[in-house]
Amino acid sequence: MKKVYLETFGCQMNVSDSERIATTLEADGYQITSDEDSAEVILFNTCSVREKAEHKLYTRIGQVRKTKQNQSALIGVLGCVAQLEGETLFQKSEGIDFVLGTKAVGRISSAIENTSGRHQTYIDLGEREANYEWSVSEKQRHSPYVAFVPIIEGCNKFCTYCIVPFSRGRERSLPASNIIRQVLDLRRQGVKEIHLIGQNVNSYRPKTDTGLENFVGATPFSRLLRAVAATGIERIKFTTSFPRDFHPDIVDAIDENENLCNWVHLPVQSGSDRILKAMRRGHTIENYLRRIDKIRASRRDISLTTDIIVGFPGETIEDFQDTVKLAEYCQFDMYYMFKYSPRPGTPAFELPDDVSPKTKTERFLELEQVLKRSQFNSLQKELNKTVKVLAEGFSSRTNDILSGHLASHKIVNFEAGKELLGQIVNVKITECKSNTLFGKIV
Ligand code: SAH
Ligand code: SF4
Ligand code: F3S
Repeated sequence: MKKVYLETFGCQMNVSDSERIATTLEADGYQITSDEDSAEVILFNTCSVREKAEHKLYTRIGQVRKTKQNQSALIGVLGCVAQLEGETLFQKSEGIDFVLGTKAVGRISSAIENTSGRHQTYIDLGEREANYEWSVSEKQRHSPYVAFVPIIEGCNKFCTYCIVPFSRGRERSLPASNIIRQVLDLRRQGVKEIHLIGQNVNSYRPKTDTGLENFVGATPFSRLLRAVAATGIERIKFTTSFPRDFHPDIVDAIDENENLCNWVHLPVQSGSDRILKAMRRGHTIENYLRRIDKIRASRRDISLTTDIIVGFPGETIEDFQDTVKLAEYCQFDMYYMFKYSPRPGTPAFELPDDVSPKTKTERFLELEQVLKRSQFNSLQKELNKTVKVLAEGFSSRTNDILSGHLASHKIVNFEAGKELLGQIVNVKITECKSNTLFGKIV
């Protein structure tokens, strides 16, 4: 049995793809190992969203090639860098044996067979098989209790800074009947929480309505949310929502169904209309605010989280101050912030990257103060409350402290034994440190 080591960079979609890659390999008689030194095949499932993410690949290949034991191991590059770079990867980084694009991952076993023992490279950037299997084997899920379920792949939005539409291709929605069947299977296997995932989940638009006929909703996505809620699975989360397509009916669906979690991730990217236009985001600050007013008015106390980019080409101090103001107004419960990173092949790459690294850093740090404060305030609201936490695993530091998420996606650490793993438990929040809550079982 050949041993395969698989390392994943990037977003949840990549994590989910890796789960299916491991599922395929397992079914074809390979053994997945976490020990790269003894592996005969080393796979990197890569991300290209920022320069740093792409760089990780080259660093890791260099490291692997230096380790003696691995000299004979096959190295395969999969995912977004693979799709974008194609053939050029063989020149860019020595020692790569094969390259498999984002939609070719179902053919991982043929890629290995085609390169094993032959001193030649192999590349497949082709389309997905018509009968591609989306479900993941129980053993290969990243968690026994939490599962990712892709509902839409690709992206048609072409925000000017973003490489994803090029690495992932056009949007394609999975049939609702397939999604619902997967959720029912996961529920039967004891999964407590599912994440419906996609670059833009609320752009969900399947070719037919099969599976959704009995559900109301203003958009296919809000009908899907109600259909998935009806499976009775305990928790349903969904990321990422695209602001332009965020219909208020999504909030109504959350209000009506307790198992639709009170968390919306809605990346705003900038607080300046001028910059949003240059980013081609398709939303203005006014309509973003209208959406969050609806979210904030929900009876469910919905947690609102976002992504922000600082230092987009042409971002002036006034544009940046608008972003600071927006962050102060929105009081985000959690955030991801990035410095703009020019990506070759995107329209923004043609613009001068004119905000200096020093200014980017200064803006990053200034905005971070504001975002950290609202995140801390949001966590503090949980103090002394008794909340429901899904016990997902051990906290990174010790084995007698468990860690898990609230429905609102806040993280809680609490003292408990491993017998509680996989259960949704009542925890009284006793302490709040910078970005984590601590509590005691009640
Ligand atoms: N589809 C999602 C985001 C997917 S990429 C959406 O539109 O909201 C995740 C995040 O990476 C983006 O929200 C953006 O904040 C960031 N990002 C994407 N391209 C980037 C770039 N070139 N430089 C810096 N950050 C970028
Ligand atoms: Fe990238 Fe925009 Fe698509 Fe999100 S919506 S993946 S930021 S192009
Ligand atoms: Fe990265 Fe590709 Fe995801 S570029 S963020 S792994 S879609």
